[in-house]
Amino acid sequence: MSHNNAPAPLTTSSGSPLTGTIRVPGDKSISHRSLMFGALAVGRTTVTGLLESEDVLATADAMRAVGATIEKHDDGRFTVDGIGLGSLLEPESVIDFGNAGTGVRLTMGIFGSHNIAATFVGDASLSKRPMGRVLNPLRDMGTSVIARDGDRLPASIRGAELAMPITYRVPMPSAQVKSAVLLAGLNAPGETTVIEPIATRDHTEKMLKGFGAQISLSLNDDGERVIKLQGQPELKPQDIDVPGDPSSAGFPLVAALIVPGSDVTIENVLLNEHRTGLITTLIEMGGDIEIVNKRETGGEEVGDLRVKSSSLKGITVPADRAPSMIDEYPVLAIAAAFAEGDTFMPGLEELRVKESDRLAAVARGLEANGIPCTETEDTLTVTGGANAIGGGTVTTHLDHRIAMAFLVLGMAAHKPVTVDDGAVIATSFPTFTTLFEDLGASLSDNASEAA
Ligand code: S3P
Repeated sequence: MSHNNAPAPLTTSSGSPLTGTIRVPGDKSISHRSLMFGALAVGRTTVTGLLESEDVLATADAMRAVGATIEKHDDGRFTVDGIGLGSLLEPESVIDFGNAGTGVRLTMGIFGSHNIAATFVGDASLSKRPMGRVLNPLRDMGTSVIARDGDRLPASIRGAELAMPITYRVPMPSAQVKSAVLLAGLNAPGETTVIEPIATRDHTEKMLKGFGAQISLSLNDDGERVIKLQGQPELKPQDIDVPGDPSSAGFPLVAALIVPGSDVTIENVLLNEHRTGLITTLIEMGGDIEIVNKRETGGEEVGDLRVKSSSLKGITVPADRAPSMIDEYPVLAIAAAFAEGDTFMPGLEELRVKESDRLAAVARGLEANGIPCTETEDTLTVTGGANAIGGGTVTTHLDHRIAMAFLVLGMAAHKPVTVDDGAVIATSFPTFTTLFEDLGASLSDNASEAA
């Protein structure tokens, strides 16, 4: 969360159709990276459409702590005056990343090859999440680490004086791990190689190339992605226009499909092939989703999504699609609750280590609302129908996507749905409430109920 904000229950109920044209905030992955890479470049990077959420603002503070100047201007643009790779200053105090897994893991990678000491802390959710997946390759590169048992936060690191470039095979499908190793490799002399058996989002590779790094991609004989980065480039500042976050777009997308009579257009959504698994899946389920006005900006494909309420049917979601929709399973489970028959979702082991144990949190939330589901170690099956009951209160476990997914359920269920803490939404989608109200959704918090 939102470790600064008091828990604030939020309730949604069904009502009028959702209609209108909206834009969701900027992509979280690209926003974090814009600030980080801008800080490592020499000169001024400008960023328009930056996601101004708690997670991203924590990354801005971390980059300021090592010497970057980051400012917001009257026209909404951000500028990042970078200090340059190899020139990071030692932070004067502890770096608090709040809820932000991407922020802390990628920053550990950057700091890990700079000869500075830093201590990282996070909220109760982030402090439970595994950091060893990033700290282990950093240890191989020469970073010293002192972390809580099981490599959890709080953790202190001292970056290597001269980092050793490594070849690292990423053991789980994780863009954060891939990115942390590449970012550490930026300040290591020589070539760092990351082998990625299962493709994950490629924003780090694409954006580093844009900033002037020498980075190449090939496939080995086993079809695995091999990414090679030449260390110690001079990164050149960029002008970045951050497209709308497809993960945030997932909420109005599913809401419009399940609230009868809806017709919603979501403009300027990032359509990177490693991020569009939810759209593909919803179309397979019978969703009326039209992708229009496809175009390219800043090396990424974007487009507008027109979505109308639809009769959905349950399907099996291929396990190998999981990396391209890893953050979207909570809201997919809500779509599945309204689909005829079973939706089977295999390959979900990574959901256990997200902002919450998302597999368990989704299953408990569905059960609390009378929706049949079966959870195994790495699969979820949801039995849907047009009659999702609702009426439950869902525990969000400091997880923004659990909160938003179940608020979408309440927009179409028979009875209202309450989440125990709507404040957590500020992690990634601060405009969620106003945007849904503009579309015609009915949301209420305690204060308005009491008034
Ligand atoms: C992200 C990678 C994913 C995703 C997260 C953002 C990124 O995490 O869940 O929200 O920006 O690299 P993993 O790499 O741990 O799967």
